[in-house]
Amino acid sequence: MYLSDKISGMREMIVGRTGMNWNAAVHSVSFDSGITNIKIYIRNEEKMRLRNVTGSREKIAESKYTVNDAPSYKGRWHETFGNDNPLHIEIGMGKGKFITELAINNPNINYIGIEKYSSVLIRAIEKREELKTDNLLFIRMEAEYIEDVFATGEVEKIYLNFSDPWPKDRHAKRRLTSKEFFARYDRILKANGRVEFKTDNDMLYEFSLDQIPQAGFDIIAQTWDLHNNEKMMQGNVMTEYEEKFSGMGNPIHKLIAVKRKAVFFF
Ligand SMILES: C[S@@+](CC[C@H](N)C(=O)[O-])C[C@H]1O[C@@H](n2cnc3c(N)ncnc32)[C@H](O)[C@@H]1O
Repeated sequence: MYLSDKISGMREMIVGRTGMNWNAAVHSVSFDSGITNIKIYIRNEEKMRLRNVTGSREKIAESKYTVNDAPSYKGRWHETFGNDNPLHIEIGMGKGKFITELAINNPNINYIGIEKYSSVLIRAIEKREELKTDNLLFIRMEAEYIEDVFATGEVEKIYLNFSDPWPKDRHAKRRLTSKEFFARYDRILKANGRVEFKTDNDMLYEFSLDQIPQAGFDIIAQTWDLHNNEKMMQGNVMTEYEEKFSGMGNPIHKLIAVKRKAVFFF
């Protein structure tokens, strides 16, 4: 069989199994060709994100759950929530399933979900409107500017779930687990603040294991197969991508990184 036939067969299988449009979030698909193992990385996420949802920008701007002038709350998020509870954020939350579930389960923690695309964020807002919780807000922004929004030591925990892999080497700095991004996280996190990262992408996970210690964080726990790791699976909340890709048989990788203590020499 020709490779093109294999690829076309794989395409049908993915569309059939996931019920997703081919242009949807298929970012890491591996299959056994029968002759050799072929790993194909397909990045059609841009197309998915750019699919316009009519009026989403306007609806987001009007929603009481979106913070439109987020930089003006920098250092004052506890005032916005009206309490001194710890602040946890998810960067690249997509449609918000994960952070919404956390907010419902943990009323004593304040949550902020960050997403750069209106067409995705609007779905999280629609779900949010059905809830009574008062500990969940959203910001539409590019994560690169995170320090404009959070003050030094203001955040206790950062979640990164199924972050975009940016497979080309020249785009490595755009990966949310690059040492450049971790330097930003280092500044907004409290002492002992932590980052929890999940992905099914081998390349991105290996890259992250290498970069994170270089950025002054200790990886205190990690697994290449979360769903078969009883200890790390405790309390696991599935994200949308986690459901999709674990459903396709992909092992899920997870690491927990803690900010290394500063050492002072006198
Ligand atoms: C692959 S999806 C994963 C969504 C969700 N976290 C999950 O696990 O189901 C990645 C999401 O992160 C968002 N994203 C990627 N890079 C971002 C950035 N630099 N700033 C803000 N959002 C970003 C994308 O728009 C997309 O919605």
